[in-house]
Amino acid sequence: MAFWKPGTEKPSFVEDEEGGIVLTSNNHSSSSSSSFGYANIEKQRQRLPVYKYRTEILYLVENHATTIIVGETGSGKTTQIPQYLKEAGWAEGGRVIACTQPRRLAVQSVSARVAEEMGVNLGDEVGYTIRFEDHTTSGVTSVKFLTDGVLIREMMEDPLLTKYSVIMVDEAHERSISTDILLGLLKKIQRRRPELRLIISSATIEAKAMFNFFNTSKKRQAPEGSTQGPKLEPAILSVEGRGFSVKIHYVEEPVSDYIRSVVSTILLINEREPPGDVLVFLTGQDDIETAIKLLAEEAHSNQKNSSGLLTLPLYSGLSRAEQELIFTPTPRGKRKVILSTNIAETSLTLEARLLGVVYVIDSGFSKQKFYNPISDIESLVVAPISKASARQRSGRAGRVRPGKCYRLYTEDYFLKEMPGEGIPEMQRSNLVSTVIQLKALGIDNILGFDWPSPPSPQAMIRALEVLYSLQILDDDAKLTSPTGFQVAELPLDPMISKMILASNELGCSDEIITIAAVLSIQSVWVIARGVQKEQDEAKLRFAAAEGDHITFLNVYKGFLESKKSSQWCYKNFLNYQSMKKVVEIRDQLKRIARRLGITLKSCDGDIDAVRKAVTAGFFANACRLEPHSNGVFKTIRGSEEVYIHPSSVLFRVNPKWVVYQSIVSTERQYMRNVVTINPSWLTEAAPHFYQNRQNNM
Ligand code: CDP
Ligand code: MG
Repeated sequence: MAFWKPGTEKPSFVEDEEGGIVLTSNNHSSSSSSSFGYANIEKQRQRLPVYKYRTEILYLVENHATTIIVGETGSGKTTQIPQYLKEAGWAEGGRVIACTQPRRLAVQSVSARVAEEMGVNLGDEVGYTIRFEDHTTSGVTSVKFLTDGVLIREMMEDPLLTKYSVIMVDEAHERSISTDILLGLLKKIQRRRPELRLIISSATIEAKAMFNFFNTSKKRQAPEGSTQGPKLEPAILSVEGRGFSVKIHYVEEPVSDYIRSVVSTILLINEREPPGDVLVFLTGQDDIETAIKLLAEEAHSNQKNSSGLLTLPLYSGLSRAEQELIFTPTPRGKRKVILSTNIAETSLTLEARLLGVVYVIDSGFSKQKFYNPISDIESLVVAPISKASARQRSGRAGRVRPGKCYRLYTEDYFLKEMPGEGIPEMQRSNLVSTVIQLKALGIDNILGFDWPSPPSPQAMIRALEVLYSLQILDDDAKLTSPTGFQVAELPLDPMISKMILASNELGCSDEIITIAAVLSIQSVWVIARGVQKEQDEAKLRFAAAEGDHITFLNVYKGFLESKKSSQWCYKNFLNYQSMKKVVEIRDQLKRIARRLGITLKSCDGDIDAVRKAVTAGFFANACRLEPHSNGVFKTIRGSEEVYIHPSSVLFRVNPKWVVYQSIVSTERQYMRNVVTINPSWLTEAAPHFYQNRQNNM
């Protein structure tokens, strides 16, 4: 087995007697590296590729309004650049350096790492803010990590973000909706605050597109009277990484079944290649499970081929214990095969722990969100990845030594057909939240907004229509008072916010806030494999005939009665971490609700009131069961065919009228989180919306 020997510039390899990959000085888990002490941390910092560019980066930031920094994952952009800025004095005079991330988890882990490197307590000089959690100290925190969404929210209080001297928009290549909105807004702010510096950093960015977006040097002059202000033309800096070479293999003929090809490639690697773990990119849990099953079957029929393989699934929603398995060193004589969704492509916390990987198998697909403005359905579909993603994926094989990547598509396809970059999330999403956010910031002409990539007018019109029916926007497309402003203030999906506001009038805010907290997390149930029957039985203990929302109330009640016991969760197939999160979010929502003048009130079992409040928020997602159809529903707004998801307590029950929270699509479109309603509530909740749809009802 290979062994990464620390202390040398280029890692070298010696046989490891234990037969496992041993992570040493560059062991990336924050807790263990603290024992190496401060001097060692300094050395580690200096070994990062970005360190060589420290002076250059500081020079560019000093002299340019915007600096674009491109460098592969792990080169030190996120953890180092904010520290360089601080060391160079950008945080003096009470100013703050901000670094945004698209993902909450990244905000937490990166800020913890930076606090550790600086030898300070997280929450003091270095802090972080994510939705529902603020770990900063006003007047003390000078390096602040936060999600792009939180920074946008801060603009409601301070439109010019005056306390920040430098804002680093990180992982810009992911082009999340919030990142794009933020980029558009920051460009506007720059015009009013020429002293503000922006850093756009990313792993695979189309630097050219970002350059053009921020290049205002041709259009406008430097601010009046200032000859030494920063240059308006952005600077681009490319940080050379230290990844090892990865040999790319393509298939000669297109594959018809990528799961089968994955399995045969794993077996081929195991037969022919020296030790090293395998990382496989598939699209989702179902794919991953099929591949694992197929591999086991092969193992059964041909023992030699698959001996020593340790297969591990990796997707979000796995229990802690299952995730830990991936992070434990590979036992002697074994080869780990990690079958993952896109999570291993983008998540750095995982990346740092996948260091045993030498072989990557890339299916060429991932699950992506797409929005259809005609049916108004946002769904996850399996779609081809971009070249940028393919490169990120193959890069995962070259972290510790030269590796190999097996692409299950032809070279011709890669060169000629694969798109260069993915489609920005903005252009494949429902825009309801986006519109509210911009409206709340006083931006009225949304179509005329300076977007990095403009969304489609149809999607925009759809969003305006929904917001109008939710009575969040008025006839002039301005936020209504108070509803519109209140919804904008709640850091939630607008449909959930509207539901909360309605619950105040219906006298069931206590129940609805619990439901809102549950709907804000992924799932309260654990993903249990091979125990479907037991899990279904557990669900039945909580199931309410009215549907999932009411079932969640029973689950929450049970959790409180168990005194928030993890044992109790385990017994009932509930995810303990998620349940704790629900309690936390609920507390936050209670606080926000109080600020909005909503008093917590229970309806004492008046389930109709609860369902009416849900309808007030989610009326646009109403569906009717097709007569004699065996479970086919049609959406009222678009006559789309949908089904109840098997995870719902209403699966196979098929009531006549329902509203759902979201749609997942696989071979069919499935409704998640479904509750029964009375159709007369729809016209009550949204008369405008259902006026013209009477014939569908
Ligand atoms: O942003 P970029 O991908 O360029 O690199 P980074 O996140 O600054 O990571 C630099 C180094 O810090 C890497 O070796 C990471 O593995 C390590 N790191 C860590 O130990 N803990 C974190 N939470 C984040 C990064
Ligand atoms: Mg980073």
